[in-house]
Parts: sequence; C-alpha cells; structure tokens
Amino acid sequence: MMDIVLKKQGFVKMQKLKLINLMLVVILSNWGCLCTGSVSYDHKAISINGQRKILLSGSIHYPRSTPEMWPDLIQKAKEGGLDVIQTYVFWNGHEPQPGQYYFEDRYDLVKFIKLIKQAGLYVHLRVGPYACAEWNFGGFPVWLKYVPGISFRTDNGPFKAAMEKFTRHIVNMMKAERLYETQGGPIILSQIENEYGPMEYEIGAPGRAYTQWAAKMAVGLGTGVPWVMCKQDDAPDPIINTCNGFYCDYFSPNKNFKPKMWTEAWTGWFTEFGGAVPYRPAEDLAYSVAKFIQSRGSFVNYYMYHGGTNFGRTAGGPFIATSYDYDAPLDEFGLKREAKWGHLKDLHRAIKLCEPALVNSDPTIINLGNYQKAYVYNYKAGGCAAFLSNNNRAAYATVNFRNQNYNIPPWSISILPDCKNTVFNTARVGSQTSLMQMKSDGGGFVWQSFIDQTESYDDNAYTTHGLLEQLNITRDSSDYLWYMTDVKVGSNEGFLRSGKWPTLTVFSAGHALHVFINGQLAGTVYGSQKNPKLTFNQPINLRPGLNKISLLSIAVGLPNIGPHFETWNAGVLGPVTLYGLDEGKRDLTWQKWSYKVGLKGEILSLNSLMGSSSVEWIQGSLVSQKQPLTWYKTNFNAPGGNEPLALDMSSMGKGQIWINGQSIGRYWPAYTARGSCSTCSYAGYFDENKCLSNCGEASQKWYHVPRSWLKPRGNLLVVFEELGGNPYGITLVKRSIYSVCADIYEWQPSLMNYEMQASGKVSKPLRPKAHLSCSPGQKISSIKFASFGTPLGGCGSYQEGGCHAHNSYDAFNKLCVGQNSCTVPVTPEIFGGDPCPKVMKKLSVEAICS
Ligand code: GAL
Repeated sequence: MMDIVLKKQGFVKMQKLKLINLMLVVILSNWGCLCTGSVSYDHKAISINGQRKILLSGSIHYPRSTPEMWPDLIQKAKEGGLDVIQTYVFWNGHEPQPGQYYFEDRYDLVKFIKLIKQAGLYVHLRVGPYACAEWNFGGFPVWLKYVPGISFRTDNGPFKAAMEKFTRHIVNMMKAERLYETQGGPIILSQIENEYGPMEYEIGAPGRAYTQWAAKMAVGLGTGVPWVMCKQDDAPDPIINTCNGFYCDYFSPNKNFKPKMWTEAWTGWFTEFGGAVPYRPAEDLAYSVAKFIQSRGSFVNYYMYHGGTNFGRTAGGPFIATSYDYDAPLDEFGLKREAKWGHLKDLHRAIKLCEPALVNSDPTIINLGNYQKAYVYNYKAGGCAAFLSNNNRAAYATVNFRNQNYNIPPWSISILPDCKNTVFNTARVGSQTSLMQMKSDGGGFVWQSFIDQTESYDDNAYTTHGLLEQLNITRDSSDYLWYMTDVKVGSNEGFLRSGKWPTLTVFSAGHALHVFINGQLAGTVYGSQKNPKLTFNQPINLRPGLNKISLLSIAVGLPNIGPHFETWNAGVLGPVTLYGLDEGKRDLTWQKWSYKVGLKGEILSLNSLMGSSSVEWIQGSLVSQKQPLTWYKTNFNAPGGNEPLALDMSSMGKGQIWINGQSIGRYWPAYTARGSCSTCSYAGYFDENKCLSNCGEASQKWYHVPRSWLKPRGNLLVVFEELGGNPYGITLVKRSIYSVCADIYEWQPSLMNYEMQASGKVSKPLRPKAHLSCSPGQKISSIKFASFGTPLGGCGSYQEGGCHAHNSYDAFNKLCVGQNSCTVPVTPEIFGGDPCPKVMKKLSVEAICS
C-alpha cells in the first residue's frame, strides 16, 4: 500500500518536474527576442500571455480562395465567434521545383497570416508538410517522388532531409516576418505531420522512429509556441496529441498535463466526382462541439470553416471534385451558410459565457436519467456553468437539475452559463435558414471551337516497347497522356466478312480512358474514388491494313492518403489485348508504343490570351457540338453587382475551364452521383454517408468563378471538353439568397434575452424573436409561408399543421415586406391570440428575398 502511495507521489513529482521543464522550454525559447506574448499550456487549456482560453478555430485553406476573398472570409469567421484560423501549408504550391519557392497570389501565406492578425484573430499553422486535405498528392511536390532513394513519411534519410528543409524554410519565414505570438504575431500553435498515428501503427518500428525524429526536429526549430500532432497517441512531449473526427468527446491526450484539443471537427465532408454530396446537420455539429466542451475540451477547430475551391489541378484524389464546399459554415463562394453559420455563432457565444468556469474548474458529472447527464463547472470565485445533455436520439427528456425542471430535445445539449438559465440548446436553431439560388445573368455565350487532334503513332514521339506508368512520364505536368500503337489487319481476316468485330481489352490503373480507333472515339471508361482501376472491353471497328490505336489516359488528381500513396500507379499498365482475329488473341502489351504528354491545345496554351490566337477557330453555325476533344472559347463582360459567380456546366461532359488564363479547375457533370439520398435526421451518430444530396444528378454542376479574376470587359473564357457537349448550354450564374426561413419555438432559449436580463435591462424572461435578413441589396418581397401553431416540414416545404393562428401572416406582411431585414417576437398576441393553448407551439416562416 505504502509502496503504491510512494510511487504515486513519485509520479506526481515527475509530472510536476515535466511541467516546470515545459514552462522553461517556453520561457527560454522566448529569450533573445523582443517578447510581446507567450503561449503555454496545461491540462486545462492553451494559455496566451498567461491566460487560459477556450479557443474556437476554423480551417480556411488560403489557396482555396483568392486573396481578394480573404479579408471577408476572415471577417465572417470573426463575426461567427472564432478566435483562431487554422490552415495547412501547401508544400507543392510553394516549391513547385526543388529550391524554387513561390509565395505569390493565392500562395501568399504571409499576407494571409497578416490579414488574420489585422482582424485580431490567432493562427494555427499546420506546417505538415504532409497535409492530406484532399489536395493533390497530399501536398507533396511530385518531384519529391523522384528524389533518389526516397520513401515518404517514414524513417528515410532523403525524405527526412527534404521535410526538414521545407519545414525550416517556413518556420524561418514566419520568424523573419515576426509572425509567432512570442514575437507579437498571431501564430499561437503549429502542427508537424498529420494523422501519422495510424500509419505508424501499420509500418511499425521505422514509423515510431520517424515520429520521434519529426517531433524533435519540430521542437528544435524554436518557434516559441506549442506544436501539436493530430491522431498521434504517442506524440512525444512536449507535443500535444489532438483528436480529429465527427465527435471527439471520448478523447483524452496522452499526458494529463496536456489540454484536450480537437484539430478537425468535420463540419461536413468532401465531394468526389461520381459521389453524392454530403452534408451535416447544424444541430448535430453543434451537439458534437458542446459535448466536447462539456467534457473538458478547450480547443475546437472546424474542418472546414470555409472549404472553398480546388482551383486548377490542385484537387487530390483521385476523383476529388473541384468544389471543396464541405458543407462548411461559409459556403464555397464565401457566403454564410445559414442556419449552420448562425447556429454555431450562437453556440460560440454560449460557450464564451461559460469560459471563466470552464478554464478554472473541473466538471462534476451528475446522472440525470438513463441518457441524461449534467456537467457542472463550479468555479469557486462564484461562477458556475452547466451543460445538460440528452443523448437519447429518439425522445425528449425532462430532467430535474438544482430543483428546476428542464426540457431537453433528443440528441441535444442545453448550455446554462449560470447553472440556472438555458441560453442555448444545440437542437433549437434560433438563427435563420437561407435557401440559395443560382440565377442566370441573361445572355448566353457566343462560342468558337477548335478540335484537338487525336494523336497517333509517330516517330517524333517518345517510343518504346511496352506500357509505361503515367506519372513517371507526365510528372503531373498534365492530366493527359497518349498511349499510341499500330495494329496491322490482313485483308483476309474473317471478321471483315462476318462483320463480327474484334474486341479490344485494355487494363488501366486509372483514372479515366478514352479509346480512339483511327481517330474515332470508340468509348470512354473511368474508375471511381474507391476503385480508380478500369477496364475497357469493347468490339472495335478495324479495317484492313494499318489501324491507329490511340489511348488517351487521364489522371484525375493524385492520391493524397493511404500507406505510401506515392507508389500508386496511374495509366495503362496493361495487358492490352485484341480478341477475335483469325489468330485468336493478339497481345499488344509488349509491342511498340509511342507516348505524348498533354494535348496539342495544352502545348499551344490555347487556354491563355496569347496561345488562344495561335490557331484557327471555327465560328458561327459550324461550331462543333457533341464532339470529343474540343476547345471552346468566348469573350464576355463581367456581370454587374457583387454576388459570387459560377458557371453552370450541366450541358457538358468532362474537361477543364480557364478564365483569362487562370484555371477554374476540372469539371465533370457527366459523372452523376451514386448512392441513396433518403432524408436524414440530425439525431443519432453522423458519418459521411448519412446525409447525402444530388443522387442521380451531377456531383458538381456549378464551378466557382472568382470575381477578382474578371475585368469589366472582354474576359476570355476557354473550355476544353473531352467527351463532347453542348457549349450553348453553359451559363454564367450569380449566387444569392432566394428565401429566408425561421423556425422558432415559443419559449425557445435565447442568448439575447439572457444577456438583456444579465445586464438588468429587463427583469422577466422575454419571448424569443424571429430574425429574417436578406443579402445586402435585397429586400423581402413576399411572405411565402407563416404559421404560428404546429406547422410541419422544413424551409422551402412548410405546411400548416393541425393548429394554426389565422393571423400568422399579418405581422410579417406588416413588419418585413419591403425591408432588407426584420425582427418579429414569437408571442401569441402578435398572431391574433393563442390558437391551441397547452400545446407546444412554434413559428415557421419563409420570406422571399429579391
Ligand atoms: C483528415 C485529414 C484532412 C482531411 C480530412 C477529410 O483525416 O487530416 O487533411 O483529409 O481527413 O476531409
């Protein structure tokens, strides 16, 4: 017994020593600089300048928007209640060639960080340099794969040397710009590696050695701010291991002197071409965050807060869509996604009201029922905050807490910053919901076309026996690689008489393939994100004599995740076989093949202003339609207004888009979404397959056109179409709010009421209010629906229920129509009296914005 006590005391002493050590590290690393701040941590939280904080953070990846969008995104993040912006650093964007660095335009990392500082927010810089992030090659430059002797993300000399060099480059740059908090800058945290734990588990000893090395290397860089390693249970001290996931309340760090941090709270999920579009209900996201905070969590980062766009060929993969919207609180275009944005804003205010109690005390957990608990933070200086949770996904619960009854909806948490008044419940959305529209700006485009050539075997091309791996040849300078060969057919071949065409079989490692026989498209096949491999197996039309077989193999983003993803192949690796000739089977795999990287139009830079005038374009009625491998160009003027813009590409197949030479990205509306999109409830555990939309439709039909890429007049739009499409169906659309809805229960908790009561402005609880607000420049033109009673359905599809106050519309018609925004209290008098006493009522309203 004595022994255990002594051991325990020894352990506590050791922990204390470690803590002192840790503080010394932080203090020492501040010496030698003009110290203006310090960042440290303990078991409760990150402390900035000695003050523990509950930090709310959101991921915004700078190259996924434009520098012109950054200030607005950051401002909206701040307004939404965030303290921190988190981003990866994208190595392949910054070092496109070894030793050649690029930090301009969308890759102007320093500018991005300075804008965050200007807005008064902090930065969490995930240097990686492995990012994952559905980003091409996980953020690694493709040249890295060809460094002799390299093996990624393991105890490998060449890899470690390259990783250290880039990490040091970034850290030195941040130091030189004085961007660390200890230098008066906004960076309070960094990250080395990314979710390496599962990989380490898979590869064993070399993985463990690499983790130790990476941690030591990072800490040795002396940034003065803590490092984290996410999904890394064995993160070496003083690095904090953190959690990523849809829920992280179960998580605890590997040492009790480290705070509980959530680096990726997934706000939705990414879209892949051919996949349905995932979304995550705001009520469940808020629930997961409240659940994390109630169980000692002190740092939450939304991944993503603004997802943005995979411009150019930055999408990872394969098959990651160009939109990286992610169902994030700010949509791809930078507009607030309501109700998610507003609901989280309210959650953040509620959490901040609890902050003093949260950072100064540990919770007492009280069971209030089978599925119900109270987490009480009693802070001796007088404050007390409580979280009342109902984990039952199906039923309401009435619980008694401190002699008062509380009604808690299913799968929700109520927040009581004074252990008495509920100011927020995760399942009661007080903010408005907005339905968005994509409205055409009128006139279509006047197109010109140019047909790219179907390459065929030619002695100028690179020629060899056998089939080559695609990335080895292209080094990812283009999506496209031509594989070309000839097939001789004797004039006596039986199929020429029988008409039974021979079958060509092509095995490819992916990702898409167009097969041309004598210049004619014979067919197209493609894989999917889960299985990028493909097989072409079709009868082909051969003629006597020489036949040209031209295979256009297309990469759709390089893999960004998986064990040694750098070794994954793409392209036609064979076998390639012809069946049905008189000789039976002819294996074409080992004959002579010639190779060409890229399309002719790419080599001529048809996407650019200069290059596009280098060929003769077809105009007027002769413009090609439904023609594979066709380039289209047009000129257009920028539409007025300041709504975000997109191209509706639904009339097209697959290809790429450029505006004024800048790449909008890959488009592929012909790849429709698999899966089932049945309705989903916010209640119950969420995963990326639970709530889906777009089934049977294009996975992505709108492609973001940043306003800042346009001049007022004469913009060059170039489209390259692979499959054949109708360019006259392409339209430029503006994104704006179509309608706004509110769904408010009578007696729904309201932060505003709490704050007014707390400041003594009112003495008794007030009724909640419905707030409706269109975009700036819009007005509420009509009330589509209003019902106080027991209305049914959601925004866009409301219906009256059994109980309905007949004057429900009046107040809205009077107070809202003609206004940009309005506020209406949810009290029976306003709607002409209580339509059904003793029944729990709510108000549902939908107003049209125009
Ligand atoms: C995580 C990873 C992120 C991103 C996310 C999915 O595992 O760390 O970079 O890929 O998954 O969107």
